Amino acid sequence: AKDLRQLSQQLHIKIGSAVDIASLRDEPMYRKTLNREFNHVTAENAMKWESVEPERGVYTWDDADALVENARRNHQQIRGHTLLWHNQLPAWLTSGVEDGSIDATELREILRDHITTQVRRYKGKIRAWDVVNEVVEEDGSMRQSIWLTHLGPGYIADAFRWAHKADPHAKLFINDYNLEWNAPKIETTLNIVKDLKAERVPIHGIGFQGHLGIQYDYPGDWANVMQRFADLGLEVAVTELDVRMVLPVTPEKLATQADYYRRALTDCLSVRACRELTVWGFTDLHSWVPGWFDGEGAATLMDENYAPKPAYKALLSVKGRK
Ligand code: G3I
Repeated sequence: AKDLRQLSQQLHIKIGSAVDIASLRDEPMYRKTLNREFNHVTAENAMKWESVEPERGVYTWDDADALVENARRNHQQIRGHTLLWHNQLPAWLTSGVEDGSIDATELREILRDHITTQVRRYKGKIRAWDVVNEVVEEDGSMRQSIWLTHLGPGYIADAFRWAHKADPHAKLFINDYNLEWNAPKIETTLNIVKDLKAERVPIHGIGFQGHLGIQYDYPGDWANVMQRFADLGLEVAVTELDVRMVLPVTPEKLATQADYYRRALTDCLSVRACRELTVWGFTDLHSWVPGWFDGEGAATLMDENYAPKPAYKALLSVKGRK
């Protein structure tokens, strides 16, 4: 394949990237590369609650709309990210819950309104929503968040039902990290899905974020884990793939990174239900990694000058589903 779009067509899998809206607006090279390579996009931050409703009742859709419009013009499908999370909540919401001015009844209404408003706005334009993000802790217990504390565990089913009502055609996903290998998290998440299915809650997909690092072993059981979710009837997606490394960059590290990317794609292709692989940024110029992991970086497919790295070439060399 000559680029990722062509690869996507050859492999019958959507290939996407997270999008940083400021770069999309201000950097021609970013825009050009994104639109050339990817047929699926996820807003890196622009659709999160703090972005779309920074003040109570004051909606700021400009950035999210810009992503949707760019996607329309460039024939890209969209993953909506994310309706319910414990991070990047607006300050008015967290402080209101904390000081007691928002009680549980009101909080539930606020959540319902948020999900309904956002999903309705983009009805028919978003292929898949990350309805709930990171709701399980590393030890397999339910994530301690304002949602669990104030609404109880039923908030997850509620969120899916509200989203489905607002756009019955959107695929609704549960999304998480370390789900590639962390057994307690995997088992709990499988149980959540089984319970939701048993209650006939509209859930359609599982998102594996896929934030990997070459200083850790590649999650060798990942394809099996994907298949276990597929066996429950879910679509599978890799939603936020990146492969970080301890700096400085060396040719050896780039080769290992390339192998991790290639294996992630190969694992996805080995599971029929895996239909989308999205990377969390495509150039090292714009990546969340250096800001979050001291001394680490270079996690994406292209360097700071948009030159393809070995990882990019490794993806292009992948042949079809087995
Ligand atoms: O918008 C402000 C800007 O006004 C301010 O000047 C600047 C100074 O720090 O901060 C900007 O906000 C930052 C925001 O990204 C937009 O760039 C926040 O500080 C920063 O915390 C935020 O980080 C994002 C992170 O989620 C927050 O949780 C990353 O960009 C984003 O890549 C990351 O994405 C998450 C997924 O949503 C869920 N899975 C994990 C993944 C990586 O953490």
